[in-house]
Amino acid sequence: MLHREIFVCLKLLLLPLHVVAQLRTDGLQQWPVPYRRFDRRPPVDSYCEAFYPFCPTGDRDGRIPYMRDSDIVSVYRLQTPVWEFKYGDVLGKLHIMHDAIGFGSLETGANYTMEWYELFQLGNCTFPHLRPEMFAPFWCNQGAACFFEGIDDLHWSQNGTLEKIGEVTGSQFNAMAQWVQEDNKTGIYYETWTVCSDPSPNATVWFESYDCSQFVHRTYRKLTELGAKLSSRSQTNYTKIYLYSGEPRYLGNDSAIFGQPALKNLATDIRQFYHAFRPHQSIFDLAFSLLEAYKKECLSLWRVW
Ligand SMILES: *[C@@H]1O[C@H](CO)[C@@H](O)[C@H](O)[C@H]1NC(C)=O
Ligand SMILES: *[C@@H]1O[C@H](CO)[C@@H](O)[C@H](O)[C@H]1NC(C)=O
Ligand SMILES: *[C@@H]1O[C@H](CO)[C@@H](O)[C@H](O)[C@H]1NC(C)=O
Ligand SMILES: *[C@@H]1O[C@H](CO)[C@@H](O)[C@H](O)[C@H]1NC(C)=O
Ligand SMILES: *[C@@H]1O[C@H](CO)[C@@H](O)[C@H](O)[C@H]1NC(C)=O
Ligand SMILES: *[C@@H]1O[C@H](CO)[C@@H](O)[C@H](O)[C@H]1NC(C)=O
Ligand SMILES: *[C@@H]1O[C@H](CO)[C@@H](O)[C@H](O)[C@H]1NC(C)=O
Repeated sequence: MLHREIFVCLKLLLLPLHVVAQLRTDGLQQWPVPYRRFDRRPPVDSYCEAFYPFCPTGDRDGRIPYMRDSDIVSVYRLQTPVWEFKYGDVLGKLHIMHDAIGFGSLETGANYTMEWYELFQLGNCTFPHLRPEMFAPFWCNQGAACFFEGIDDLHWSQNGTLEKIGEVTGSQFNAMAQWVQEDNKTGIYYETWTVCSDPSPNATVWFESYDCSQFVHRTYRKLTELGAKLSSRSQTNYTKIYLYSGEPRYLGNDSAIFGQPALKNLATDIRQFYHAFRPHQSIFDLAFSLLEAYKKECLSLWRVW
């Protein structure tokens, strides 16, 4: 487990059911299944409660300051071990990294941090809640972009990375800001797992993750598209959490599976599967559940997929 990639061997994990199968026009399934975009972000269900408030120092309406076109804005690569600041040293050993981007305006001297993360912590984005009053598993799995003033140099540089990777003009920054707002409105659900067929480099990827490092990559790509030249001296290791599985099969959406008496057995299996992973367990219980599941799931083949 001391690698930068964590391998969890589960024969099956049901992905959030908003991942809808997409068929190509020739009728073949397209892999990886494209991340689903939405027209806008739905309000958060009041059942979901954040353990740490989301984006406490950001603008309440997510506004990003406008830079003068002539400004020169420095771009920083920011990376730090995620568990360290949230859960102490024990889980720092897993080397899960959190990625963000920093910006600094030459004209105003102000600097900013931009990151994309879970509204209700990682556990809630990885496993659903089983609510007694609801048959279908219930997800608190939104993720979003947070833009706030300041770069906490010590936080990023002490155990991670703070590196200037380039400069953009004020107008390039403003164009990126507009894109971030759009991306933030349409990409709303966090996907923890990269699901693929096996650990080989050739493996078929069934589902890509959608997380902080993917956001950072998308933003770099956008800045490059806008004409920016970015380069990093050091190799960047991004954390991916892998799940290996046979070829997934689309079985139906929430209402189909949990609303039809004919599929009651399937629905019950799904609930039972998730019982081991309730996200409101403490992080230690969750780690323990994962170990338990490792033992069980590697031995038993699930019927569902
Ligand atoms: C997950 O959601 C539950 C229910 O809303 C909440 O109590 C909890 O603090 C959230 N965070 C974690 C890490 O479980
Ligand atoms: C992204 O969306 C979240 C949730 O609505 C919001 O809190 C945040 O301010 C938005 N961020 C940006 C940069 O627009
Ligand atoms: C960001 O601004 C703060 C406050 O002025 C300063 O202490 C810090 O060094 C700056 N960080 C970067 C990376 O520019
Ligand atoms: C860096 O790691 C050390 C040792 O684990 C810890 O004491 C310190 O608080 C960390 N620094 C930051 C800024 O997280
Ligand atoms: C990857 O695919 C190529 C071509 O299909 C094949 O020759 C090679 O043996 C594969 N490598 C692994 C590690 O599976
Ligand atoms: C990235 O991984 C390589 C190989 O595992 C390692 O040598 C390097 O120090 C890592 N870089 C960072 C910034 O963690
Ligand atoms: C769920 O699937 C059924 C049948 O495939 C479809 O009629 C229904 O519109 C879908 N519901 C949602 C919310 O997508």
